[in-house]
Amino acid sequence: MKKIENGKLNISNLKEEVELFGWVSKNRDLGGMIFIDLRDRSGIVQLVIKPDSKYYDLATALRSEYVIKISGIVVERENKNLNIPTGEIEIEVTYLELLSKSLDIPFQVADNITATEDTRLKYRYLDIRRSPIKDKLILRSNVTFAAREYLNNKGFIEVETPILCKSTPEGARDYLVPSRVFNGKFYALPQSPQLFKQLLMVGGMEKYFQIAKCFRDEDLRADRQPEFTQIDMEMSFVEEEDVMSLTENLIAHIFKKIRNIDVKLPISKIPYNEAMNYYGSDKPDLRYDMRITDLTGVFKDTQFSVFKDTINNGGVINCIVVKNNAEHYSRKEIDSLTEFVKDYKAKGLAYIKFNEEITGSIVKFLSEKEIEELKSKLNIETNDLVLVVADKFNIVKKSLGALRCKIAKDLNLYTKEFAFTWITDFPSFEYSEEENRFVACHHPFTAPKDEDVDKLLTDKANCYSKAYDIVINGYEAGGGSIRIHNEEVQSKMFEALELTKEDVQNKFGFFVDALKYGTPPHGGLAIGLDRLIMLLTNTDNIRDVIAFPKTASASDLMSECPNSVEEKQLKELGISINK
Ligand code: AMO
Ligand code: AMP
Repeated sequence: MKKIENGKLNISNLKEEVELFGWVSKNRDLGGMIFIDLRDRSGIVQLVIKPDSKYYDLATALRSEYVIKISGIVVERENKNLNIPTGEIEIEVTYLELLSKSLDIPFQVADNITATEDTRLKYRYLDIRRSPIKDKLILRSNVTFAAREYLNNKGFIEVETPILCKSTPEGARDYLVPSRVFNGKFYALPQSPQLFKQLLMVGGMEKYFQIAKCFRDEDLRADRQPEFTQIDMEMSFVEEEDVMSLTENLIAHIFKKIRNIDVKLPISKIPYNEAMNYYGSDKPDLRYDMRITDLTGVFKDTQFSVFKDTINNGGVINCIVVKNNAEHYSRKEIDSLTEFVKDYKAKGLAYIKFNEEITGSIVKFLSEKEIEELKSKLNIETNDLVLVVADKFNIVKKSLGALRCKIAKDLNLYTKEFAFTWITDFPSFEYSEEENRFVACHHPFTAPKDEDVDKLLTDKANCYSKAYDIVINGYEAGGGSIRIHNEEVQSKMFEALELTKEDVQNKFGFFVDALKYGTPPHGGLAIGLDRLIMLLTNTDNIRDVIAFPKTASASDLMSECPNSVEEKQLKELGISINK
């Protein structure tokens, strides 16, 4: 096939005879001359049909999105349009053929349209003709190509792993697939290829990758889909540093190839506890500073009962400083920020505005000494706004962390540059208030730090793991860990997670057995491909970067799925539906 790319024609093609294909984007009759914008994947080129052409009537009848084939001569335009690449030329049509018609379209195939997202998703195939979606899909293809190129050069082998798997507990809820052959039994769709990629290491593959589909039945958000894609990797004979280095070089390769951006390597590392302390988040957005500062010391002798009680109850008092924006925040706006932090369980939000005068909700309780200490500790300048939360440590950090992001968004405090960071030294366990016990922060195969192995059973709150996440502009773009390859450590970990031998055997017996046959030290990481594409294309909607995405309620509006199935199908599966 030697189809010409319409969007690439230019003045250098002058006088050439060309055969073109595409969709009618615009058709206008200007005083007898017909001008058609012919669109294909590469762009648009203008066609001209003169009144004496034998194709004139056919050309008049062409409507938006009809598909045509033409032959013609490339000529120089009288009125050049320098805004488009083909704007200096047009094609004088010598042959025109209608290949297929289109119904009236529900929305224009144009960059800026007012159609709702639901309408666009229902007619996704039309939506994909629009540059804002099309360009992202092309970029996505270039990214997976660059990833394959990079990993292939580093000796990685691409291996596909099963989609019909055993249901193993991995964090989110599984999507289940009923078995016809074994009525009453189920496959699960993989939440990630985690166990398989580790088994590939036991299998001696040494360096694995896969552009892997993952399925998780969890509450959806703007950056979450029920099925999404990972650039999934696993390596043998590596330490944390090796996996992080490989990953950041891969990411730098992708940013350079796709956006010509030089990522400064090595990417900085922030231990989890520090991230929580300063940013109230394990995925801090570092495009702005606005760190959380601890004021508990400043208020040790406070007269304000809320602060005093907080300190007496072992809580903390923290703040963020909104620089040079105190004026911007009216009482009403502070009230709405107060409502915002309440969603994160904070009981209130105190504020101090530093202008000629110092004003705010807690000023009447502040002593001269406290004001001076605040000013010097926070490097206060005129027009700074200080926002304070007093509560239990986690509530304070999470609410101020979220407030930090909200204010940066409201005031558009972002630098233009991408902000990359690693978050390292995650805790091995987190305390579940619900279950009243420590549960695994990651999966149970995540290796603890060597120095914490002895504490696994006795001091869970202070055990840290060899896990790491890569964070870009406040998105968790990827995560991974070094895995446990030592059987004793693995048994200890199961014990720490209060799993009995039977639990272990039932849940992942096959996997634990495999680890007994010579397991190399190994580790890996998975990059969230969809999120990476979101970052590279500056969108905050994950649906924009997926050809056929699901809505926030996990349905596909185009094919109308999920849907009901025939009684016969259910019967074969031994399933009856409770109505
Ligand atoms: P994790 O669960 O952290 O790790 O997933 C890796 C990355 O995948 C992306 N991601 C998602 N993207 C879109 N929609 C979702 N619902 C979604 N969930 C996760 C994120 C995340 O950082 N097996 C481990 C990896 C490993 O340890 O090697 C895993 O799946 O960008
Ligand atoms: P009050 O004396 O109740 O009017 O409270 C004075 C200010 O303290 C108000 O602005 C409240 O929003 C704020 N406040 C109340 N509880 C807290 C808290 N836990 N942390 C921070 N500020 C609080």
